[in-house]
Amino acid sequence: MPIIGARITPTWYNLLNENQFILGIESSCDDTSVAVIDMHGQVCAMVTYSQIMEHQKYRGVVPEIAARAHSQTIIAVIDKAIEDSGFTHKQCVAVSATAGPGLIGGVIVGTMVARALAVGWGVPYIAVNHLEAHALSPKITNEISFPYLLLLVSGGHCQTLVVKGLGQYELIGQTIDDSAGEAFDKCAKILGLGYPGGPLIEQYAKRAVKCDYILPIPMANNDSPNFSFSGLKSALNRIINGKQLPEAEIAEWAFAVQYAVNQALCNKTAMAMHYFAQTYPSINPKICALAGGVAANGHLRGQMEQLSAQYQFTMVQTDMRYCTDNGAMVANVGWLQYLSGQFSALSHPIYPQWPLAI
Ligand code: KG4
Ligand code: ZN
Repeated sequence: MPIIGARITPTWYNLLNENQFILGIESSCDDTSVAVIDMHGQVCAMVTYSQIMEHQKYRGVVPEIAARAHSQTIIAVIDKAIEDSGFTHKQCVAVSATAGPGLIGGVIVGTMVARALAVGWGVPYIAVNHLEAHALSPKITNEISFPYLLLLVSGGHCQTLVVKGLGQYELIGQTIDDSAGEAFDKCAKILGLGYPGGPLIEQYAKRAVKCDYILPIPMANNDSPNFSFSGLKSALNRIINGKQLPEAEIAEWAFAVQYAVNQALCNKTAMAMHYFAQTYPSINPKICALAGGVAANGHLRGQMEQLSAQYQFTMVQTDMRYCTDNGAMVANVGWLQYLSGQFSALSHPIYPQWPLAI
């Protein structure tokens, strides 16, 4: 059978079985998401149960509620993902799951179920670092070679990294306080919008017909590669001061928040591009990839395209389905680890914090 859309090196061609798959389980925050990936690295099915409804009235994720919701839905989500893929569980060759970083209750649920299935089905268990899953997510739908530059922007993290290979990361800059996603979420809360804040800020920003408001661009006037977003939220909080604003004004402020966050991200990514170009002068083309939940932001995607063109980088966007937390990015790392024979002991620890690189 020909391999369609193969993402593997030819040496593996004859070793792969068309009838096998790897399961990926993501449960580190507020999405219970499970994907099935075949031996060519193609995503065959993905099912996600979003807990937005459960957390909405609290305007943020409540860890205990999240853990309970994961435990109530995870088996049904796994069953549906396998059913949708057309495989049966007997064709599963490895079970991978996020083992951190993340909210520990959800991580316990995901990894306990993954380990139980691995034991029951007699297949290896693969513990996946959630950040690594985001870092390699641009590769799910794009043919890109290592090393590449990455801006990883999620609710918990904000980093620029050189992605050198599976398990090989070099940190360039990271946030010293809030992440970009946190900045969006906290500013949305201050503006009286719901949760999750990022998509709402984007929607409101699109409605702005003008913007008379300017917020300070975080860390604009220093040469540190690091990010800082906590001042932005405080600045907005001082201005809004609990006032209920008319819709048009909320839209203007949302525009100002989005502009300030994205400009700060672009400024520090430009510094990282400079570092990458100097450190890896022979790499051609130079790739800049964008991943994580905030990578779903249309304005940021556009700004990063422009920045890449300016610095002679080729911009690679993560497919929108794989930006916010999803099982496919976990299954993708599970697949890569499987191909390189990296399995985890059932006693593999789970981590609330698990840095990719220090
Ligand atoms: O990667 P992710 O799903 O979870 C973590 O690993 O943290 O990222 C969630 C974050 C939230 O802060 C959410 O507000 C933000 O990504 N986000 C967005 C957008 N969609 C999600 N931020 C800005 N614009 C969006 N369209
Ligand atoms: Zn994430």
